[in-house]
Amino acid sequence: MGKNLTRKIIAEHLVSGEMKTGSEIAIRIDQTLTQDATGTMAYLQFEAMGVPQVQTELSVSYIDHNTLQSGFENADDHRFLQSVAAKYGIYFSRPGNGICHQVHLERFGVPGKTLLGSDSHTPTGGGIGMLAMGAGGLDVAVAMGGGPFYLTMPKVVKVELQGELQPWVSAKDVILEVLRRLSVKGGVGKVIEYTGPGVKSLTVPERATITNMGAELGATTSVFPSDEITRAFLKAQDREDQWTELLPDADATYDEEVIIDLDKLEPLVAAPHSPDAVETVSSLGHIKVDQVAIGSCTNSSYADLMQVANILRGKKVNDQVSLVISPGSKQVFEMLARNGALGDLIAAGARILEATCGPCIGMGQSPPSGAVSVRTFNRNFPGRSGTADAGVYLASPEVAAASALTGKLADPRTLGEYKPVELPEKFLIDDSMIIAPAKDPDAVEVVRGPNIKPLPVNEELPETLTVDVLLKVEDNITTDHIMPAGAKILPLRSNIPAISEYVFSGVDAEFSTRAKDSKAGIVVGGHNYGQGSSREHAALAPMYLGVKALLAKSFARIHRANLVNFGILPLTFVKEEDYEKISQGDVLEITNLRQQLERGDELTVANRNSGATFTVEHGLTARQIAIIKDGGLLNHTKKQNQ
Ligand code: F3S
Repeated sequence: MGKNLTRKIIAEHLVSGEMKTGSEIAIRIDQTLTQDATGTMAYLQFEAMGVPQVQTELSVSYIDHNTLQSGFENADDHRFLQSVAAKYGIYFSRPGNGICHQVHLERFGVPGKTLLGSDSHTPTGGGIGMLAMGAGGLDVAVAMGGGPFYLTMPKVVKVELQGELQPWVSAKDVILEVLRRLSVKGGVGKVIEYTGPGVKSLTVPERATITNMGAELGATTSVFPSDEITRAFLKAQDREDQWTELLPDADATYDEEVIIDLDKLEPLVAAPHSPDAVETVSSLGHIKVDQVAIGSCTNSSYADLMQVANILRGKKVNDQVSLVISPGSKQVFEMLARNGALGDLIAAGARILEATCGPCIGMGQSPPSGAVSVRTFNRNFPGRSGTADAGVYLASPEVAAASALTGKLADPRTLGEYKPVELPEKFLIDDSMIIAPAKDPDAVEVVRGPNIKPLPVNEELPETLTVDVLLKVEDNITTDHIMPAGAKILPLRSNIPAISEYVFSGVDAEFSTRAKDSKAGIVVGGHNYGQGSSREHAALAPMYLGVKALLAKSFARIHRANLVNFGILPLTFVKEEDYEKISQGDVLEITNLRQQLERGDELTVANRNSGATFTVEHGLTARQIAIIKDGGLLNHTKKQNQ
């Protein structure tokens, strides 16, 4: 039976496990990337492992998220990251060099390699034929230390692209169509693999727009083949020697199949407040637009911004619209500056930002209250723009530019003649903003400003676990409830003692004080505990406060994995009604814990206050039990390396 591309790359990197859908496998990681908001913690974790140099083929540390420097915190983080990179064999991409995924595609991505990044849009690398996945910072740190990455063997979905995109319809419309069909949950446990004759009509940056926003499907990742188009892109980046052809076998089999006829697509938008609330622009009528934001790791390539410049050239932005543009990389920015397109954008009235994530992560440019913002980004959840009641429409650069001119949500097909943007034969190559690791690592001292605090270390799991019930919460607690974000809290990501003060701060202001006063604690939750982002601080900060276990009716998958990684025991009720047998302030006890974990899935819990006993289950694999016993993945990895 022929192999699809995904299975080929996995087979090539398989370290352990059986490639049977749904079972746990471990794969070797060739490349890693981090961004600054998650990177500080990943490198503190890497340092704590005691590995002298990264073991990957290539690791890159990017600064693109927290680039506002209104206080010392972000600047301290940047300096720390630069010195850590120099010392441990990591390339450092300076602030201003661009968004991690865009720069990685341009300068580092290699077809057929595995890439693990501490950012959920790492699948962008699938556009150049990589198996590129997002993960928590600790998983990335382990990969940098030479450890494999554990994942569930995914199903592979074939998306067959037929035909060719029509004028004014773009790669963004392809991924919006996939989201419309599969929904934001449709990719869970799956890799989305693109095939078919339509693939040939898409450039690498266009493919990367599609794989980038595949993250919104909840997919493990998305991948395109590596073909002559990929070769041409790498050649234009002066990296043709890194190209290899990578195609699925002609008789490859897939678990599911979707067919998209590119000829039939028309300009689409994702309406507020979900990336899968997809509608055709033409069906929505003329919605008044207050802001247009063009950029982000989804849509800020050279061709994207050249097309925007072509649309705006000689015209003026509507006087009711604020148009902001953030180029994806210094390469893109400088090319626009040199060929005159930047002048066209400025002349039209665009506000030009630096080459970073910027408004996508809420670093400036929040829309006015109740406003409509058309953005070329990938997420439009309520509040992500920084304005709670703004309505964000996710769209292609063509729709965004047309809307900026008219002041209304506009179908670009009304703009008239369409001129495609050809990719240059040579991109402008200047890697001076990428700093290579130090030749003499021993001479490098890691610089730790006051915002960089040592990583808290967990203890091994005790034989008897006696814990205070610190908090009892209801269903659907999100990682935002557990560890809130926002401009005040985000800069504290490398300062666990400071950030832990905010754990559950929106739910119970006394939580962190109560947790610190207790020797050991447990939180009791309802269904779907920990839903939302992959934020590992939602496990790490409670661990710092002394939370030893979580007992819930059910968990969100990634949060449960993060709890295990930080040595917090995740338990579920065998009988849901036992939830009622616990009150905040009770003391729970599990004796013979280490033995009980080995013996089976069920553990007996005694409530010392009420005298009640009940059973809970852990559902941990043998590998996870070993991690929990050692007090988390960091301790476990250190032990294994000894
Ligand atoms: Fe940055 Fe937004 Fe992408 S925060 S990495 S541009 S999703």
